Amino acid sequence: MKPRGAIPQDCSRCRLDRSRNNIVSGVGPRKCRIAFIGEAPGRDEDERGEPFVGRSGRLLDDALAEAGVSRDEVFITNLVRCRPPGNRRPRKDEKGACRGFLVKEIEETGVEVICALGETVARELIGVDERMSDLVGRAFPIHLFGKDYTAVVAYHPAACLYRRDKLPSFRNSVRCGLEAAGML
Ligand code: URA
Repeated sequence: MKPRGAIPQDCSRCRLDRSRNNIVSGVGPRKCRIAFIGEAPGRDEDERGEPFVGRSGRLLDDALAEAGVSRDEVFITNLVRCRPPGNRRPRKDEKGACRGFLVKEIEETGVEVICALGETVARELIGVDERMSDLVGRAFPIHLFGKDYTAVVAYHPAACLYRRDKLPSFRNSVRCGLEAAGML
């Protein structure tokens, strides 16, 4: 699917431009109801220029398919658009440098529901500091970028790759997000 981000292809707002192969903007229909937001592109995403196309992405696709929704019906993006070296967590200044692009993507799609994939995203967008096990599957009213949204927290699919016991919770959270978005 065509990336929707307005990010210039030579963006050098942060140091991640030195190691990236591709800028990974969000993908999805022009208008949609829910955005799934991950942390940062990984190796596969950096190579292909599209978010969640590796093993984590397949788990997201499967969870959507199980709920009868296709990847093409939702918006998928990340806090930052370039892969941090060695898949480290994006730093505060990197998230800050990319924030404007995320705001633009989210606003343009008109989504009302955000599904925060993983702890970093939940803390960043919802500002909660409870344990992930207490947050997953819950919906929070949030005010973000000057607008109201419902945010649903899910484990990051990558966490489910090495902790398969988290998969049912992940699938359930995806379902909760789709329900909150009125897609089920
Ligand atoms: N993990 C993320 O957080 N985002 C991706 O796009 C891929 C893996």
